[in-house]
Amino acid sequence: MPSLNDIRSTFLNFFERNGHKVVDSSPLVPRNDPTLMFTNSGMVQFKNLFTGAETRDYKRATTAQKCVRAGGKHNDLDNVGYTARHHTFFEMLGNFSFGDYFKEQAIPFAWELLTKDFGIPKDKLLVTVYHTDDEAANIWKKVAGLTDERIIRIPTDDNFWRMGPTGPCGPCTEIFFDHGDHIWGGPPGSADEDGDRFIEIWNLVFMQNEQFEDGSMRALDMQSIDTGMGLERIGALLQGKHDNYDTDLMRSLIEASAHATSNDPDGPGKVHHRVIADHLRSTSFLIADGVMPSNEGRGYVLRRIMRRAMRHVHMLGAQDPVMHKLVPALVRQMGAAYPELTRAQAMIEETLRSEETRFRQTLDRGLRLLDDELAKLPEGANLPGEAAFKLYDTYGFPLDLTQDALREQGRSVDTAGFDTAMAEQKAKARAAWSGSGDAKDAAIWLELAEKHGSTEFLGYDTEEAEGQILAVVADGADLGEATEGQTVSIVVNQSPFYAESGGQVGDTGLIKTETGAARVTDTKKVAGVFLHMAEVTLGTISRGQGATLSVDHDRRSAIRANHSATHLLHEALRRALGDHVAQRGSLNAPDRLRFDFSHNSAVSPEELARIEAEVNDFIRQNSPVETRIMTPDDARGLGAQALFGEKYGDEVRVVSMGQLADSGKGADGQTYSLELCGGTHVVRTGDIGAFALLGDSASSAGVRRIEALTGQAALSHLRDADRQLSEIAGILKAQAGDVVNRVKSLADERKALANEVAQLKRQLAMGGGGAGQAAKDIGGVKFIGRRVEGVGGKELGALVDEMKLQLGSGAVLVLAEAEGKATVAAGVTPDLVDRISAVTLVQTATAALGGKGGGGRPDRAQGGAPSLAAADDAIAQVEKLLEETA
Ligand code: SER
Repeated sequence: MPSLNDIRSTFLNFFERNGHKVVDSSPLVPRNDPTLMFTNSGMVQFKNLFTGAETRDYKRATTAQKCVRAGGKHNDLDNVGYTARHHTFFEMLGNFSFGDYFKEQAIPFAWELLTKDFGIPKDKLLVTVYHTDDEAANIWKKVAGLTDERIIRIPTDDNFWRMGPTGPCGPCTEIFFDHGDHIWGGPPGSADEDGDRFIEIWNLVFMQNEQFEDGSMRALDMQSIDTGMGLERIGALLQGKHDNYDTDLMRSLIEASAHATSNDPDGPGKVHHRVIADHLRSTSFLIADGVMPSNEGRGYVLRRIMRRAMRHVHMLGAQDPVMHKLVPALVRQMGAAYPELTRAQAMIEETLRSEETRFRQTLDRGLRLLDDELAKLPEGANLPGEAAFKLYDTYGFPLDLTQDALREQGRSVDTAGFDTAMAEQKAKARAAWSGSGDAKDAAIWLELAEKHGSTEFLGYDTEEAEGQILAVVADGADLGEATEGQTVSIVVNQSPFYAESGGQVGDTGLIKTETGAARVTDTKKVAGVFLHMAEVTLGTISRGQGATLSVDHDRRSAIRANHSATHLLHEALRRALGDHVAQRGSLNAPDRLRFDFSHNSAVSPEELARIEAEVNDFIRQNSPVETRIMTPDDARGLGAQALFGEKYGDEVRVVSMGQLADSGKGADGQTYSLELCGGTHVVRTGDIGAFALLGDSASSAGVRRIEALTGQAALSHLRDADRQLSEIAGILKAQAGDVVNRVKSLADERKALANEVAQLKRQLAMGGGGAGQAAKDIGGVKFIGRRVEGVGGKELGALVDEMKLQLGSGAVLVLAEAEGKATVAAGVTPDLVDRISAVTLVQTATAALGGKGGGGRPDRAQGGAPSLAAADDAIAQVEKLLEETA
């Protein structure tokens, strides 16, 4: 009996043998389709190849594609577990031709694989074709020898396949397997077609049209093939089972669930095991593709599936979290075909464990409330919407979990009442929000948030994605469209652009639609809505259009490096300076990083050098940067650095990087830096490249600020410093290593020379020789009155003292001018101070110079003057004063 893994290989090998390239499954979050929640068929990754918008180096491809159908157009969630063939996660096998072969070859390929390689008896097979498609009917007749009654013509959309409201589409032919008349059911198109006797196993789509939003359709230039066969269905058939859950792969997961909950896989808990097996696959694959549980968008669909599974775990009587224990069984089954599952195993287990731990805290109480509510209702009555809303709001029960719980009792929920309660809560939240400030400007964003929900951020995993334009806003109003030259804020449903927060600046880049382009200069967010602040540079951008959003890669890479380096720096500072170091602010820009932290004194150059070296050590370690989602309490328990006083929601992103050789502080004793952070980071620490500290300064009281560079900027900075050092060494005619000593001795020499110059200036000012000869005798008092140049105010005191010394007994007046400032200084020898005061001399001189004041002691005084224009007069006035007093 072939296993599902064998069947997958047989399929891919068959088409590889027939000239098809085996292409990997694309991620579950479609990169190229903003209208799809999850990849739901094999053709999604090839969408643009069918329309001719994109070409690749192959024209034939084959894939085993991961698909999720939960939420959005194709939603199988409600039935999963209760029916034989519904799944939230399944694999679609497909072969594709992009303008290469068409019907005439696709049909023989399918027939050969089914009847030869898979060995299905021909008389068990029948097909449908679109009612006007004679060509396909004739090929079937010729290739398979099917009679007319086994080629059923279907006039409805069942045989015209569309991926969604827009996109490539075309008529299709479906291949059915007849399980035999012991099972009830009629052939396709008959009244009993919903029975289980005739099961569709393969859909071959003849892609030949493109559907547009206005309902119109065009014929595509080339004719292509897109086929899809559910692996679980063909697997059940080839393993002689009627139920997909009885295939080897699903059975092994069911048994893992039974084992983990000490239950019988086929006992009364059977349906629970089936739900658990299915949901284990969708949740694990979604987490492996970067979806994290949240309260909105894709993350909320994931959470709904997780919690639905967890209720079924609970129904099996398990006391502890179970889902994460089943992951190894899944990895054993599917890890070889999907290596991403193996790579993400630890992350999947942790995400499941933490979600289940958390949800169990409210699950019991919620279920009790549900029982109480039901007890109040008449037999068979539906649960009021308000009660379902309370379960949602207070106990974290997604609506479909409550519906699933009620289903077992044949009841349902008043969903209209639920919607009303939800709308009321939103209205209250809005009232509270708009009351808190900038209400006028915020109105449009709140309106958009309420209408469309938050913008989904895709930028942790990709820098380019498609989104749908929801609004084009300027001056607080949605303009609907904008043309070249206009500056607007563009709102989309999902975006790879990071909106400024947590110190990380907003992304810039390009938004392109079929009719225009806009340059995004910044991205911000209000009420969860991302504002792509943009200038339309070409044509027109309109609401409703699909758009390609591309982030400026180089700039984002530089920001990422700076942000990750900030985390390393934070930890290095804490280790060097102490646990009191806490983040007080930060900036992660493309050209530099800035980090403010609590610390009282300057960080010494030696400490800075050690910190810089430690950060560089962890960069060179090149260890992976890991991101996990958990409760703030769990994160703190692990030792994560959180912003003091910051409000965190129910769950936080925890970014960890760097591994310690010896015992560290993380839960595993190995993690160097662990922080709560919503920003974007490098994949491995080595991507930071290099780290250079620019120095430490005071930011405010008790807060220091460090600025630093990473990557190319750090290297350029170091190179510049080195170049300057070489230049200095050149000027000094020294080796770079001697520069410091040389500069020190130059500084000493300079000081000695400066002293010598001052001395010489003083001597010069005194006329180059003894002062005696220049002194006048005024009434028996020797007096020197002199104007000097180039001697500053500070040097005058020493000059006056020297002149006094040379006079032995007498009075001195010096008028000096240096660097645009005029100063007057006077001195009187001790023997004369009781008759003559230096202060009076200075005041007399400054008054004559047009100034006022001056002060000091009787033996030495000094004062400023507006100018020395009247220097001679000032000296004459002082001489006159001396004559009078002497
Ligand atoms: N796109 C088609 C389907 O999903 C065939 O792959 O059924």
